[in-house]
Amino acid sequence: MPNAFISGTGFYAPPRVVTNDDLRTSYGLDTTHDWIVQRTGIEERRFAEEGVGSADLAVPAAEMAIKSAGLDKRDIGLLIFCTLSPEHCFPGSGVFLQRKLGFCDAGHFVPALDVRNQCSGFLYGLSVANAMVRSGTYKHVLVVGAETHSAALDLTTRGRQVASLFGDGAGAVVVSATEEQRGVRSVYLGADGRFAEVLCQKVWDITKRPFIPQNEQGIGQVSPESMFAHMDGKQVFRHAVERMVGSLMQVMAAEQLTLKDIDLFLFHQANLRINQYIQQAIGAPEEKFFNNIMRYGNTTAATLPSLMYEAEQAGKLKRGMKVAMVAFGSGFTWGSAILEW
Ligand code: ACO
Repeated sequence: MPNAFISGTGFYAPPRVVTNDDLRTSYGLDTTHDWIVQRTGIEERRFAEEGVGSADLAVPAAEMAIKSAGLDKRDIGLLIFCTLSPEHCFPGSGVFLQRKLGFCDAGHFVPALDVRNQCSGFLYGLSVANAMVRSGTYKHVLVVGAETHSAALDLTTRGRQVASLFGDGAGAVVVSATEEQRGVRSVYLGADGRFAEVLCQKVWDITKRPFIPQNEQGIGQVSPESMFAHMDGKQVFRHAVERMVGSLMQVMAAEQLTLKDIDLFLFHQANLRINQYIQQAIGAPEEKFFNNIMRYGNTTAATLPSLMYEAEQAGKLKRGMKVAMVAFGSGFTWGSAILEW
């Protein structure tokens, strides 16, 4: 059975930088730079322009990942698109990216799978790619995480708790088969649907007839409570710490590793304080952590692939290193992975 390793990484963030002060001065949020930095570590994020969606952001990241793997687009056997901000209700973003990448040209119809697991989406996608490659079904799988949060944030003081956290961006990796003893060693996934409403964005309710209320003219009416994300921040924080530590321990136990064996920790970028809290709780040295939330905010499914790309570029992620990845998010869902780079 082959192993599955990450043969290429890519990343793209839209050019428009939105600082914490911009949230106040351009959008009118009653907030301060210090409030956001003290509680989250976020200094700025990127917002895509109108007309740009998650599949658009994913294109440069995907092309970069394919190129850095030394592959051609025609080598990709399967595309997995992880996002909570798809272009539409259906079809998912996967087919839009497939079309934009030219994956349906000249009789080359790459299958496109959509993963909807929010902040844990990338790890869920990686586990599918790992299984597909190890089973011999595909040799090269493109896994993308891309988000366009800016279109769906309540950028008013009413929505400031959520709006100050999120940014737009895309990360991508190619997962390839190898006979070498390297790559994805273990993946662990978890979920607890009892907390599905603690962090959610409902928009519509399919149990209602029709699923979006209509006014007398038959025009759909969505209230701000349904339209924008709702979050109990304190509860998310508490569960994130608990589940991230638990899943890290679980995946390390599966590989019979101790904290000392890990060369680099790549944690989902939800809040720098969550990651610092865990780092101190487990007693791992700060220099073994790589974070980029300061510059991009929480980009949900894009955080882990963007960290891999930037850590590689910064010389912090090198061949032979043991990497531990952990994520937690809405659902609640969570996951962890050990990779030998
Ligand atoms: N600027 C200024 N004030 C704000 C802001 C803001 N951006 N947001 C909220 N406040 C105010 C609130 O209105 C509240 O005011 P009040 O006391 O007058 O009612 C006060 O600050 C305290 O609000 P809390 O929500 O209690 O603040 P808390 O200390 O819990 O911090 C935060 C909020 C940063 C969201 C924190 O709960 C958190 O980080 N939780 C984790 C959530 C998370 O990371 N979510 C990401 C998505 S899920 C994932 O990826 C894991």
